[in-house]
Amino acid sequence: MIAKASAPAKTILFGEHSVVYGEPAIAGAVNKRAHVIIKKSKTDRTVFRSPDLNFEAELLTKHKKYILKRGKPGIIRYILEALYKVHDHSPIDITLYSNVPIGSGLGSSAAVTVATLAALYRYHNIRFNKHSLAHDAHMVEQSVQGMASPLDTLVSTYGGLVYLSRNKKVEHFNVNFNVPFVVGYTTKHGNTGKMVKDVKSLKMRNPKIINPVISSMGNLTNYAKQAILKRDFKTVGELMNINHGFLDVLGVNTLELSRMVYNARDAGAIGAKTTGAGGGGSIIALCPGKVDEVANAISRDDNILKIRFTRKGVSSRVYK
Ligand code: MEV
Repeated sequence: MIAKASAPAKTILFGEHSVVYGEPAIAGAVNKRAHVIIKKSKTDRTVFRSPDLNFEAELLTKHKKYILKRGKPGIIRYILEALYKVHDHSPIDITLYSNVPIGSGLGSSAAVTVATLAALYRYHNIRFNKHSLAHDAHMVEQSVQGMASPLDTLVSTYGGLVYLSRNKKVEHFNVNFNVPFVVGYTTKHGNTGKMVKDVKSLKMRNPKIINPVISSMGNLTNYAKQAILKRDFKTVGELMNINHGFLDVLGVNTLELSRMVYNARDAGAIGAKTTGAGGGGSIIALCPGKVDEVANAISRDDNILKIRFTRKGVSSRVYK
């Protein structure tokens, strides 16, 4: 029997980091996906490989340990945690195909976690729905990262453009927000867990300064929600620029991220900001009518991803 599942990556429009402290956020699933295939092993070992990431490791699932054969460990802790929660430790082969650049800020860990859990549930014939899957995937992210909001795993599970409110209510936008965005990313990868911890420690050292910034980020996200509903792109762009400034205050922007943001704005983007955890990773630029100019400007020094928002969330199947 073969179980297959795939889940989309996401990009955060508003509210990264502040969402960890209960503030609202807006994120959308994009047309880049992680695909996970699970089948019974022909040997007595569990092996995880990813031809796209040039990665192979033997997994000691009972002990959450691995023996690296090839590549960088990166995503493996998420896979081990998912296996530990669901799998009966029988030997399986796990293959990951992904066109989501790892560490690019597009939520590759959430896409891989959601797809792995969905494939495992199918493999073991365990009933699940999107609600339980998003919850379980969030638990995996939390175990690995220490602190995580449910945002990435929610978007990877449900797909579409999602607003997560202060009381963790999920709302799906029913507007057509098919405006052109360009994502720029650097080859320097960010580490989400580390960035979240760094912000936490900055906040603990300077609560009177950082706490109001985090609640302003929440207010900004609520303004952005109204602007998106009205399709008022000029205001969305302006709010993205302010949000980038707040992320600078939190210390998650880097030289490369800011370079991409300013290159995008100089080339005509009406808004540009870091997206995701920062410390490396990616920026998102809103550029109606200026896609080529913005893409060319960013790609002088960094990389470009052409993405579209997608309504397609997780999907899974089993083949007997
Ligand atoms: C990472 O994509 C987004 C953060 O807000 C962390 C999280 O929400 O878990 C930085």
